[in-house]
Amino acid sequence: MTTAAEKKSKRSRFCPILVFFLLIPLVLAGILTIYLAKRFLPDEPVAYEDPVEHFKYGSTGGERNLGFPYWIWQVLPQVCAEHLPGDGYESVGFVFEEGKDLPIGMSKRRQFGIDRVFLNCAACHAATVRTAPDAEPLIVVGMGANNLDLMAFQKFMYNCVADRRFTPKQIVPHIQAAGADLDLLDKYAVYPAAVHLMRDGVAGLLGRLRFIHAQPDWGPGRVDTFNSAKALFNFPIEKLHPDELLGAADFPTIWNQAKKKGMQLHWDGNNDSVEERNLNAAFGTGATPRLIDHASIARIQAWNATATPPAFGDHFPIDQELAKKGAPLYKQYCADCHGLSGSDFTGRFVGLVVSLISIGTDPYRLHSFTPELAANLGTPYAGTEYRFKHFKKTFGYANAPMDGLWLRAPYLHNGSVPTLWDLLQPVDQRPASFWRGNDRYDPVELGFVDDVAEENGRNFFLYDTSIPGNGNSGHEGAAYGTELSDDQKWALIEYLKNF
Ligand code: HEC
Ligand code: HEC
Repeated sequence: MTTAAEKKSKRSRFCPILVFFLLIPLVLAGILTIYLAKRFLPDEPVAYEDPVEHFKYGSTGGERNLGFPYWIWQVLPQVCAEHLPGDGYESVGFVFEEGKDLPIGMSKRRQFGIDRVFLNCAACHAATVRTAPDAEPLIVVGMGANNLDLMAFQKFMYNCVADRRFTPKQIVPHIQAAGADLDLLDKYAVYPAAVHLMRDGVAGLLGRLRFIHAQPDWGPGRVDTFNSAKALFNFPIEKLHPDELLGAADFPTIWNQAKKKGMQLHWDGNNDSVEERNLNAAFGTGATPRLIDHASIARIQAWNATATPPAFGDHFPIDQELAKKGAPLYKQYCADCHGLSGSDFTGRFVGLVVSLISIGTDPYRLHSFTPELAANLGTPYAGTEYRFKHFKKTFGYANAPMDGLWLRAPYLHNGSVPTLWDLLQPVDQRPASFWRGNDRYDPVELGFVDDVAEENGRNFFLYDTSIPGNGNSGHEGAAYGTELSDDQKWALIEYLKNF
């Protein structure tokens, strides 16, 4: 038996200096662990108090999945200048506010010891509007991003990461020249690894989205929503029927979602749940079920529930005498399908789907959404309270409310009709081709200026309605107002400026 006193005397035989030296590596390892943990473990987005700033720049969690390292994003336009159509990200339609280093629609998060950035909702749902050639652009959140050419952007990223110059040796000096304060660890470990990871990540993602290479250019303001979804689900794209492989859709407006509860929306009315439409949209921001920030989505949802469009009348005059003459025409011809006004959405058929045969607009977007996809959309959130239950295949396009009608141009689900005046004409009198991407507003015909190819150094996109998926047919005939007299049409347009 050993007594306490004997134990004590045994212990005291350890040499304290030896113990000290033995402890040093342990302590150093501890300090290193703490340092590395502090440097690499935090996972924090840049957050914004104001709901509109949150919408424009806040994170939905998507950077965790696809985030580009901030400094690589910043230098790509120099590294791969010739893969862009013009100068900088502005040349594919990103909008930069004064004093901001990231465009509207891009969020930032610190993760793995590096700042990462990715697109958020505002990339596709915010835009600029100019009221005159030299007017300051007005930033409108909640309207479709009419200027963003997402396909051109995707091709830029794809070509750039595949470029032989996309190596740490080329990129890191650009990053230092751009003013980044890189320490040794950043310079020799973090950023070189980030370059390789980004190349694999972007190549992998854009490899899945390879269907875009077989499609005609979307041009600014459009994306193929549901073929992108199929690609992300790894559908065997090459085996799908060609008719479902074209589905470019105009970026829609997303105001007043609370009043749109229960309506069948998305262009083809494939989902009648506001919550699911918001959550499904989050896939577009890279936010998968495992990585999504539900609190952030809830804030966006709270904002878009009641957000309203800017009033036309705050920027241009309205002839209210003439508008009065348009009111009964609207009531007679349009209100059943599009609601009583720009803020009262009651109407017999509002939020329901009109069959393709009756509406007669371009069929491709409708066919791109298939029953197989509807079934698959139930799987990502399977087993959770968020599981999608409301997607269903429809056979036409939805009667949507017309809040902010003036900012919905170019009109129809594929953005094929530039102005409201044109939409009120029979199909053979609508423009067969026009320039898209100008943010200068035409307050007479109600749409964006569509007859100039270039302005202030910006080149626009020639939208050709003869290309499959771009058709401008339908929404035509007595019921749709295309047989009204010119005087009646001008009165109706004046009235609709109040929406
Ligand atoms: C890549 C572009 C893109 C991103 C990013 C994006 N959206 Fe959308 N959104 C679209 C398109 C395109 C549609 C129309 C889909 C269709 O019917 O084809 C749409 C539809 C919607 C709708 C339904 C509108 C209606 O009335 O029919 C809502 C609501 C919406 N988005 C909200 C969001 C939110 C919230 C986010 C961020 C979490 C987001 N979107 C991110 C492109 C985008
Ligand atoms: C029978 C229902 C119905 C009637 C009547 C009707 N519309 Fe529509 N409208 C639709 C549908 C459905 C769409 C979507 C079609 C598409 O995008 O392919 C649409 C689209 C539109 C759009 C484009 C919206 C956007 O965001 O691009 C405008 C503008 C519009 N209608 C105005 C009118 C006006 C003005 C009238 C009356 C003269 C009218 N509509 C009558 C069903 C109707």
